[in-house]
Amino acid sequence: MPEWVPAEQFLGPFVWERDREGLVTGQLPFAQAADLQARLRGVILDGHRIEVTCTPKVHRTLYRKALLAEARRMRQKTVLFSKAGTRLDAEGRLFVTPESIALKLARRATKRRVLDGFCGLGGNAIAFARSGCDVEAYEIDSQRLALAAHNARVYGVSIQFHAGDLLEALPRLRGDLLWLDPPWGDLTRQRCDRESFQIVNDVLGRITTGSFQEVWLKLPPTFDTGSLPEFRCEAVFGEGDGDRQRIKFILARFKWRGQ
Ligand SMILES: C[S@@+](CC[C@H](N)C(=O)[O-])C[C@H]1O[C@@H](n2cnc3c(N)ncnc32)[C@H](O)[C@@H]1O
Repeated sequence: MPEWVPAEQFLGPFVWERDREGLVTGQLPFAQAADLQARLRGVILDGHRIEVTCTPKVHRTLYRKALLAEARRMRQKTVLFSKAGTRLDAEGRLFVTPESIALKLARRATKRRVLDGFCGLGGNAIAFARSGCDVEAYEIDSQRLALAAHNARVYGVSIQFHAGDLLEALPRLRGDLLWLDPPWGDLTRQRCDRESFQIVNDVLGRITTGSFQEVWLKLPPTFDTGSLPEFRCEAVFGEGDGDRQRIKFILARFKWRGQ
């Protein structure tokens, strides 16, 4: 398991031992072992598929029960927007950053000038604005941008929205913090890295030194963090009953030296 993943939060409150190769071991009751096997089935973290081995083996009935519980949990995710009246499109709702998570992140950026490069339905832009940041937001899909502007009105915050391609605008943009939540496509199901995540590579290649003090990137858990050695990475978990132990995304942060 990658070292940026906190074992207790991800695997459960047991005593875990971790070796240098990333092997994590612990002793736990059969029911919890079955639960872990079900929850980590097919999970790829940091470019590697997680393998779970139980010794002695978990009984099949227990494992099947755990799979059912996992399917139930999958439906109890973190709330996207808590205020009534927000509008979401079918695609946008799949990737909006849930409000409580967006607010937690935004509190770390209080009162700064934030550029949200891929604003989507406004999940992050609205949270940054609610934390007292001065927010500008870009979105290439003008219909989705209109929904984000509507959502900002529901929350009573003011954001400068721009319809357009971030990649074109980026060289002339300035701010304290560049927030990037690029579309992941099907990268949630496969290993990816800076090179294969084309839009991330393109954006990072266009940022000029000094245009932003910091860059924060929201990346799928499958992303190989080794391909961004200059970034500090941390796991961000869900906050709903069903996804509290699930890594929703990797937060990768870069700060220019001397700032
Ligand atoms: C993952 S979503 C952002 C979700 C957002 N953080 C939220 O919480 O609602 C990515 C968004 O980037 C937009 N997008 C894709 N390419 C873009 C580009 N070159 N410039 C600006 N926006 C772009 C997509 O239309 C999509 O709405």
